[in-house]
Amino acid sequence: MLGAIWAQSLDRVIGDGTDMNWHIPEDLRHFKDITMGDPVIMGSRSWLALPERFRPLPGRTNYVLSSREPGDWSRGAEVITGIDGLSGWITGGGEVYAATLSQVDRIEVTLIDALLAHSVDSVVSVVYAPEIGPDFELTEESEWMTSEKGTVDGSDEPARFRFQTYLRKVSS
Ligand SMILES: NC(=O)c1ccc[n+]([C@@H]2O[C@H](COP(=O)([O-])OP(=O)(O)OC[C@H]3O[C@@H](n4cnc5c(N)ncnc54)[C@H](OP(=O)(O)O)[C@@H]3O)[C@@H](O)[C@H]2O)c1
Repeated sequence: MLGAIWAQSLDRVIGDGTDMNWHIPEDLRHFKDITMGDPVIMGSRSWLALPERFRPLPGRTNYVLSSREPGDWSRGAEVITGIDGLSGWITGGGEVYAATLSQVDRIEVTLIDALLAHSVDSVVSVVYAPEIGPDFELTEESEWMTSEKGTVDGSDEPARFRFQTYLRKVSS
């Protein structure tokens, strides 16, 4: 099984090119619960965006998509040039989610109750999640929750978020 997992704003922003635009501990716990024990597969930019002390993600084989030779930059991960035959979780970022969505059967989304496309600094590039098309159906959705300590950049209010599961429709 190949799944994808991401957190996005209501307008599908997942990052500003180097980082995410929120810090929500409940989402980090959710990510850990879902992916623990399974391989994680990410693009080189997402790998390098992880603080060095957090990579590789423990308890998971870390695969990094890149055209570059492995080196110091990739220590702890396995560098790959394609995902054929792999199962696990696609964990980012925008380029890799978009390129692999057609091969994914399940998507775990953390939806963050904020509109961010207009607020990301224009000197950095806004990174979006791909649109989830009619090949997928929303099969589970939590209520909106309020984070205990998490906030979205530019706001002092506690962040609101919900978890969603999409499964690929079975073709008849
Ligand atoms: N909100 C979330 O859940 C979430 C999760 C993860 C990341 N993010 C955010 O996403 C942003 C990064 O995303 P991004 O779109 O800029 O980059 P990305 O998808 O993380 O990485 C792109 C890189 O992956 C490599 N790559 C992609 N497809 C490949 C293929 N088929 N074969 C070989 N290499 C391939 C290339 O690396 P080389 O140039 O090395 O060849 C490419 O430059 C950051 O802001 C990060 O914080 C958000």
